[in-house]
Amino acid sequence: MSAHPAAPAGPAVPATDADTLEQIAAAAGTPAYVYRADAIRAAYQQLDAAFGDVPHAIHYAMKANSALAIVRLVRSLGSGADANSMGEVEVALRCGFAPGDIVFTGVGKRHDELERAVALNLLAINVESPGELDRLAHIAADRGAVARVALRVNPDIDARSHPHISTGLKSNKFGVPIDAAPALFRDVAARPSLRAVGIHVHIGSQITSLDPLERAAESVVQLARELRDAGIAIEHLDFGGGLGIAYEGGPAPDPVEYVRRIVRAGGGSGLKLAIEPGRVLVGAAGVLLARVVDVKQFPGARRFVVLDAGMTELMRPALYNAYHRIEPVRPRPGTPVPADVVGPICESTDTFARDRLLPPVEVGDLVVIRDTGAYSAAMGSNYLRRPLPPEVLIDGAEWRVTRRRQTLDDMLALEA
Ligand code: LLP
Repeated sequence: MSAHPAAPAGPAVPATDADTLEQIAAAAGTPAYVYRADAIRAAYQQLDAAFGDVPHAIHYAMKANSALAIVRLVRSLGSGADANSMGEVEVALRCGFAPGDIVFTGVGKRHDELERAVALNLLAINVESPGELDRLAHIAADRGAVARVALRVNPDIDARSHPHISTGLKSNKFGVPIDAAPALFRDVAARPSLRAVGIHVHIGSQITSLDPLERAAESVVQLARELRDAGIAIEHLDFGGGLGIAYEGGPAPDPVEYVRRIVRAGGGSGLKLAIEPGRVLVGAAGVLLARVVDVKQFPGARRFVVLDAGMTELMRPALYNAYHRIEPVRPRPGTPVPADVVGPICESTDTFARDRLLPPVEVGDLVVIRDTGAYSAAMGSNYLRRPLPPEVLIDGAEWRVTRRRQTLDDMLALEA
C-alpha cells in the first residue's frame, strides 16, 4: 500500500458515553445498532466543504445503511442518493429525494426496474453493459421517453482492497472496459431514446490508498476529453464511492485529500463532479451494542467470549475477515487477556475476533463493536429466526429508537 496523508483526528465528534449506552440497552435491549447523527453530519460536511466552489454532487450510497432515519438525515444535509436496487430507489423517494437526485446502479437490472427508472426520469441510470443499453433504449422508446444514461466504465485498476469488495479489475463483473466506452457513447448519441449524461466508475470499497482512486478518476476524465472531442456532450463525472475508514483506529485516508485529488483530476473538465460515498459517511458513526452471554475456557484451550450479537447482525468479519474494534462499555480493572469474541450462531465463521486482547469481561457485561454504521444492519439477516435488532439514533443529548426490534410475528407475516 502506498503512503497516504493521514487524518488522525477526523471530524471531532465524541464517542457515546457509557451511561447513555446502558440506558439504551435497558430500554431497547441487545443486540442493538446505535448511530450518532453528529458524526454523520460532521463526515458529510467535511466532504462537501472540501469541494469548495467546484460544482459537485454527493450521492449517498444507500447500500451502506438505508435505514429511513439515516437516509432522511443525509438528505437533510443536501445529499443526493445512489441506489443499487429498485428497493433503494423507492426508499429514497419515500425519504423525500426527488427522482432528479437519484442515480441508479446495478449489474443486473431487471426489465421492470429499468421501466420504473425510465418512468421516474432518474438523474442517471448507470448502465453496465451493451445489452443493458439496448434494452434501456427500447424501453424508453416504447414509452416515448428519453432515458438519462451514464455508462459505468471498468478502468482495470486494482483498488488494493479485499478481493471480495474490489470491482475495478477487468476480471470483475462490473461495467464495460473503458476502451469500449467511446463506441458505446456514440451508440447512445445515435439513439433518440437515450441521452448521455455521465461517466461512472467505482473500483471498490474500503480503499485505504488514494492512488488507485485518483487513477480511476483520471481515466474517467481522459474519456470525457475524448467524448468532448468527438462532440458528445455529458453533464457529470461520477467517481463512485470506496473511500475507506480506519477500522483499527490508526490513521485513515483523509477525505479532504481524497476530494482534493478528485478535483485535481476533474476540476478542469467543466463538468459537475459527483461521488457516491457510503462507508466514509456512516461507518464510524455506528456501534453494535451487545451483551456477553457466556465466557468459557478449558485448560489448554482458547478462551471464548460469547456475545448475543452474531454474524446475523454483523457479517463483515465472517465475509471478509474484517477487523472491528471491540470494547467493554465499562471496562473492568485487570490485565487484558486474549479471547476469541464470537456470536451464538451455529457456524465457526460466526467469530468477530480471534486472540483479541480484551479487558476482563463477565457474563452480563455490555460491549460495543465499533464502526458498524455501514454494511452491518444493511447486511443483516433472519438466519436462525433471529429477529432484526432495533436501531437507535443519538442526536446531541437525545436518543430515540428509530426501528423497533422485529418480532416473531413480523417475521412470520409473509408466510401462508
Ligand atoms: N457506488 C457503488 C456503485 C458501489 O457499488 C458502492 C459500494 C458504493 C458506491 C459505496 O462504496 P463505499 O463508499 O461505501 O465504499 N459489504 C462490503 C462493502 C460493499 C460495497 C459495495 N459497493 C463491506 O462490508 O465492506
